[in-house]
Amino acid sequence: MRRALATVLCVLASSLSANAVTIYTTLGSGTDTAAEATVTGFGAYNSTALVAPGLPNPMPPLNFTIQLYLGGMNNLSIKQASNFMGFSIELSVANQYLGRNSSRVNVPFLNYLANLRVRTGSGAVVRVGGNSQEWTQLFFTMFPNQEIINKTIVPNTVTPQVNIDADLFYMMNNISSLVGTRWYGGLPFADPTNTTGIASIIAFAEQVLGDNLIAMQLGNEPDLFGIGARARPTGYSPQNFISETQQSVYAMGNNSAIKNQMILLGPSICCNIDGQWSIDQVLAAGYLTDFSAQLAQLAVQYYPNMNCAGDNPPQAQDIFASYLMHTKAQTSVNQYLNGTAAAQVAGKPFVMFETNTASCAGFVGLSDSFGAALWAVDYTLQMAYGNFSYALFHFGGQNSAYNPFTPPPSNISAAVGDLWSTGPVYYSTLLVSEAMGTNNASQVVDLLPNGGNVYTPAYAIYENGNAMRVVLINFMNDPTGASDYTATILIGGGNSNQPASTPSTVFVRYLLAPSVTDKYNISWAGQTFGPPFSSDGRLQGNVTTETVQCDTVNGCPIKVKAPSAALVFLSAPGGTMAPAPTETFSTSWYPYNAGPVVNQAVLATSNGRGGRGQIQDLSTSHGKASAADIIRSLSLPMLLTVAAIAAGAASILSMQR
Ligand SMILES: *[C@@H]1O[C@H](CO)[C@@H](O)[C@H](O)[C@H]1NC(C)=O
Ligand SMILES: *[C@@H]1O[C@H](CO)[C@@H](O)[C@H](O)[C@H]1NC(C)=O
Ligand SMILES: *[C@@H]1O[C@H](CO)[C@@H](O)[C@H](O)[C@H]1NC(C)=O
Ligand SMILES: *[C@@H]1O[C@H](CO)[C@@H](O)[C@H](O)[C@H]1NC(C)=O
Ligand SMILES: *[C@@H]1O[C@H](CO)[C@@H](O)[C@H](O)[C@H]1NC(C)=O
Ligand SMILES: *[C@@H]1O[C@H](CO)[C@@H](O)[C@H](O)[C@H]1NC(C)=O
Ligand SMILES: *[C@@H]1O[C@H](CO)[C@@H](O)[C@H](O)[C@H]1NC(C)=O
Ligand SMILES: *[C@@H]1O[C@H](CO)[C@@H](O)[C@H](O)[C@H]1NC(C)=O
Ligand SMILES: *[C@@H]1O[C@H](CO)[C@@H](O)[C@H](O)[C@H]1NC(C)=O
Ligand SMILES: *[C@@H]1O[C@H](CO)[C@@H](O)[C@H](O)[C@H]1NC(C)=O
Ligand SMILES: *[C@@H]1O[C@H](CO)[C@@H](O)[C@H](O)[C@H]1NC(C)=O
Ligand SMILES: *[C@@H]1O[C@H](CO)[C@@H](O)[C@H](O)[C@H]1NC(C)=O
Repeated sequence: MRRALATVLCVLASSLSANAVTIYTTLGSGTDTAAEATVTGFGAYNSTALVAPGLPNPMPPLNFTIQLYLGGMNNLSIKQASNFMGFSIELSVANQYLGRNSSRVNVPFLNYLANLRVRTGSGAVVRVGGNSQEWTQLFFTMFPNQEIINKTIVPNTVTPQVNIDADLFYMMNNISSLVGTRWYGGLPFADPTNTTGIASIIAFAEQVLGDNLIAMQLGNEPDLFGIGARARPTGYSPQNFISETQQSVYAMGNNSAIKNQMILLGPSICCNIDGQWSIDQVLAAGYLTDFSAQLAQLAVQYYPNMNCAGDNPPQAQDIFASYLMHTKAQTSVNQYLNGTAAAQVAGKPFVMFETNTASCAGFVGLSDSFGAALWAVDYTLQMAYGNFSYALFHFGGQNSAYNPFTPPPSNISAAVGDLWSTGPVYYSTLLVSEAMGTNNASQVVDLLPNGGNVYTPAYAIYENGNAMRVVLINFMNDPTGASDYTATILIGGGNSNQPASTPSTVFVRYLLAPSVTDKYNISWAGQTFGPPFSSDGRLQGNVTTETVQCDTVNGCPIKVKAPSAALVFLSAPGGTMAPAPTETFSTSWYPYNAGPVVNQAVLATSNGRGGRGQIQDLSTSHGKASAADIIRSLSLPMLLTVAAIAAGAASILSMQR
């Protein structure tokens, strides 16, 4: 639905001065065209869809049994935090997502995070950083634009240099106070001989964020530094990286303002796909042992496919089918299992710090498809099974196809609260959040059911020896229904040599879309965020939970459509069905200069019912209802910004690997 923004812009153009109209008419053949161009020019809203892969040949069996055991199963993961699945936001777009500054937080951003907190009982985990952090300097006087960051475009590069204001950390802390977010930050490492900024940024971030700060990343993808002498001489090695890290560690040790020295995160190596460093090599070089007193957590970054210009990227259509097979998740995770085991021995969490479908903004048609949502569920649970401790999905800017959610282009987002766009991968975070429960005790096991068939993966989630939940995925695409499968879940009984203990009733929620190629017609448990430019971060519609009657001896038959994912709540001993409360923030149509109104007293608690942005509001045209407010509050400079973006002249860059 591109019309929403088009409507807003059209109203503006026809109501404002001749100057403004001129701006628009110079962009295209008419104002509508201009608005449409604004939207379609960006990877985040490109409507190009792929062709769904054909059905497998041979087809997998469509009736199979899943045997669960009382007391636990072999190969259960470590106990996982409920907020296992989180987000990674490129520093250079932090202002688009978080908001302008500490007194101008984007309300939809709060809602997207609040949706996760109500499901997990813990604030979502968010990293702010990336390539654009490497030259960062911290400023204590506000930039002239009154934003948390100041970008300087560097000729011939895609990554701007970004300076940060002290207010960024106050803003992060404000967000924590509202939705409990816990943060990772990034440190500048472009000049490893100048450790002044590293030590002082750590000290300041710790001071402002306190326990809301998890760790600070030192070195973003150092294994790529020496490639083409990008940031270091060719041949830059793990040992070079360790020596440089040592200099920063000395500077930290000499800075008494740093209260918690065990605050670093690394080595954040990328991908292990182009023949760069493996985690095993970096650990073998002594990284973990040398810095055990400074490393809070270990981290890697990974994209299963490369889409950067220099990587000779594949065609999205050619690789789409590979995302719809369990093998993709397994091969992605297996390469890190020595690393996660080493981290476990050292007592350090091992984090997937930055990931998504593909590097460099992802593939249009693939990264923004329902297929990517199913892939993200499988991949994230595979990481949990593989003893990662967090998995952070990356956001680029307006040009990224893979964003879990995207603010509208330009600072119109500050004026209009509900024009955000929700990507398929965000729906995965809702499912995974509910699957992980609220007790920080979930242990995940890859069940490899149906003879390990790659189109029908499943996971069980145990808590303290009790089978609590099962996730079932059907990767096949068949609107006829002929490829739906039925998995029959047994707890004890069957061939288990345990007493039959299947509950008489279980509850099921579905992640659904008509096709793996769909971009917006997606729902989780019956709720949706709707088409692009239509969300304030709150779910629309009523929660749908299906009740399935089971036979204690013959099990619970769970039907899983092709394509879809199902989350089964087993009302086993100690088990409960997760509630789906919705604690969200009301977005008022505040005038731009008044800033967002975050009224904490207005917390809806009724499963997404009531208030703006709910299903009943969809009948009214967004933009129209509040056009008067917008027109009153938008200034000509802002229109110029919109215009510049439409013309492709703006510095909206998507970051990534
Ligand atoms: C949309 O994406 C496709 C595939 O990447 C690309 O060919 C096309 O140019 C894009 N459209 C726009 C308007 O950018
Ligand atoms: C699967 O089992 C159901 C009953 O449990 C039966 O109705 C259906 O025909 C079976 N389907 C196949 C493909 O065996
Ligand atoms: C446990 O994991 C190992 C290694 O992946 C595998 O060989 C073994 O079959 C698994 N055991 C069970 C019971 O799944
Ligand atoms: C945030 O930006 C607004 C609008 O530009 C400005 O009025 C306010 O003073 C800024 N807040 C801070 C903390 O700089
Ligand atoms: C802010 O960015 C502008 C370019 O956009 C640059 O000229 C200026 O030096 C930057 N200021 C700081 C303090 O980073
Ligand atoms: C945000 O942070 C600033 C600086 O710490 C503080 O003055 C302000 O009251 C905070 N605002 C909110 C909404 O918490
Ligand atoms: C080192 O970095 C700090 C900011 O972090 C900067 O002010 C200073 O000029 C730098 N020193 C050198 C020698 O580059
Ligand atoms: C302070 O820095 C020096 C080197 O510059 C280093 O030898 C020393 O170990 C550091 N002190 C601490 C406590 O880290
Ligand atoms: C893990 O370690 C074993 C034993 O050192 C080694 O054989 C294997 O290649 C390693 N796996 C990976 C993926 O690095
Ligand atoms: C994860 O850690 C648990 C507990 O140490 C271990 O039993 C299990 O084998 C590990 N899983 C993998 C895939 O390494
Ligand atoms: C949601 O539930 C309420 C109360 O049961 C009902 O009135 C309303 O029509 C439902 N909305 C939708 C979109 O189904
Ligand atoms: C919108 O953002 C641009 C660039 O960040 C800035 O120059 C402009 O002043 C902003 N407009 C308003 C109305 O704040």
